[in-house]
Amino acid sequence: MTETLPLIPYPSGAVAMLSGSFSPPSQLSVVADPYFDTSQVLFYVREYLGMEVQEGEQSPNLIIAKAVDAMDEQAYRLEVFDQGCKIEAKSLQGVFYAVQTLRQLFLAYPSAIPCCRIEDKPALRWRAFMLDTARSFCPVGEVKRIIDIIASFKMNVLHLHLSDDQGWRIASDNYPKLGEEESGRYSKLEIRDLVAYAQNRHIMIVPEIDMPGHFTAALASYPALSCTGGPFTIPKGEGIFSDILCAGKDEALSFVKHLIEETASLFPAPYIHLGGDEIPLDRWVDCPDCRKRRKALGLSDEKALLRWFCNEMTSYARSLGKQVILYNDYVDQAYDETIITQVWNPLLEMTKSAHQIIMSDYFHTYLDMDHTLLPLPVVYRYGKQLQTQKYSSLLGAEFMLWTEHIATKEQRDLHLLPRLVAGAESFWTEHEQHDYHRFVNTFAKYGSAYLPSDAHITPKKLWNTFFIVSALARYKRRRRVKRNSRKAGIMLS
Ligand code: ACM
Ligand code: ZN
Repeated sequence: MTETLPLIPYPSGAVAMLSGSFSPPSQLSVVADPYFDTSQVLFYVREYLGMEVQEGEQSPNLIIAKAVDAMDEQAYRLEVFDQGCKIEAKSLQGVFYAVQTLRQLFLAYPSAIPCCRIEDKPALRWRAFMLDTARSFCPVGEVKRIIDIIASFKMNVLHLHLSDDQGWRIASDNYPKLGEEESGRYSKLEIRDLVAYAQNRHIMIVPEIDMPGHFTAALASYPALSCTGGPFTIPKGEGIFSDILCAGKDEALSFVKHLIEETASLFPAPYIHLGGDEIPLDRWVDCPDCRKRRKALGLSDEKALLRWFCNEMTSYARSLGKQVILYNDYVDQAYDETIITQVWNPLLEMTKSAHQIIMSDYFHTYLDMDHTLLPLPVVYRYGKQLQTQKYSSLLGAEFMLWTEHIATKEQRDLHLLPRLVAGAESFWTEHEQHDYHRFVNTFAKYGSAYLPSDAHITPKKLWNTFFIVSALARYKRRRRVKRNSRKAGIMLS
C-alpha cells in the first residue's frame, strides 16, 4: 500500500504503510523503559499529544523502548499498530522526535491513524535558528513560542543574538548599566527560565555576544572601553559603525572576559558565539592604546591585532569549558583551530583550515529578506545543497532572522512561515527524500494545524507567486548566459 504520510519534516528512512488503523482512546496507557526519564516522557505525551495519560503495564497503547540495534542518538523508530504505538530510541531526544511525529499523525488523522512503520534520523545534527533580539527585542513569551515552533519541526539549536549596536539585551551583574536604558532586556532569571524551557524541548540555546564590532550599545553605557572615549548614542538605524571595543585598554579586555564568564555560567551549552563580523579597524589604527598593544605583541597590523584578540577570548572561553563560534569575516588558518566558523558570507574565501563550520549563507538563510528575494523553493533546496557537498567539517546549518525591520509577532511570522518550516525539513530529511511539492501540499493542508493557532502564515497564493517570480528570473538568467556565451563564441570564431 503506498501513501505519503503528511509529515514535516518528512522521515529520512523507510516509511512502510501497514494494514489497519489505530483509534486513539481518550486516555493513553503508557509504558516506558526506566532507562528514560519517565516524568519527561509523560510530559511529552501530555504536552504534545494533548492526551490524558496513565502509566500502565496492562494493555499499554504507547510503548517506549530503548532501541537495541545501532541507532543514531537523535534517531527513532515509530510503529503504529491497531492497538497502539511503539517508539524505539536511544535517547530522550529520539523519543521527543518520535512524539513530534506522532503529534502530527494525531492531528492529521484525529479518529484513525493508519498503521505504519517509520524509521527516521536527521541528516544534519545541528539544525539551528538565529533570532536577533538586539535590533528588536523579543519578549520571553514570544521566544518560547518560537522555541515551540522550531522544536515541533525537529530543529535543535536556538542561537540568540543578544547584543549589537542598537541594543544590549542581557543583564549583567558586573556591568549593570548594560541595556539599562533600552526597550527590553532579559534578566538572569528570565534567561534561566528560557534555557530550562528550551532544554525540555531538546533545544540548546547558544548565546551570542557580538564583539569587538557591533558594540555601540555597550559603549553608550561604558564609553571608556572605546578607543576615543565617546560619548556615544545608540543608533536607531541599521549600518556598520566605526566605534568598536578598544583592544589596547586592559579594562576593555577584562570587561569582555567578565561578560564571557557571566554568559558562560548562565547558558549550559558548551558553545558561546562571539560574533566577530563586520569590524571596521580604523579606530584601532589611530588609537595610542591599540598601537601600544600591537607593538608590545610584535603584531604587523590591525588584522593581526584582531586575530590576537579573538584567539585570546577563545582560549579564555575554553578555560570555562566553552567552544567559540565566530562569523567567517576574518577567520583564517592562524586563528585558534578550535573556533567553529559560521559561514554567513559565502563570497569570502571559506576557511580551509581545521575549523568546523556552520553554514548560514545569506543567499539561502536570511529570512529577513523578502519572499521575492529568497523564495520558498530556494530555502527548501538549501539542505540538499549542504548534504550533497560533503564538507569534511560541517557541524550544521542555521536559518537567520535579523530584525532591523521586523519588530512585531506578525512581521516575524510572515517572514518565518512557511520558510523556516521548509528549512527545518531540508536540514532534517535526507536529501533523497526531499520533495518540494510534497512539502508544499502537506503544509498547505496541515501547516496551520501543526503551528500554534495564532500563527500568521503567508497565504499559499503568495508563495506560488514567489515561486513563479523566481522560476521566471532563473529562466531569464539562463537565457542571458546562453546568449552571452553564443556571442562570445561568435567573437572567438
Ligand atoms: C552578519 O550578517 N553580519 C553575520
Ligand atoms: Zn583602542
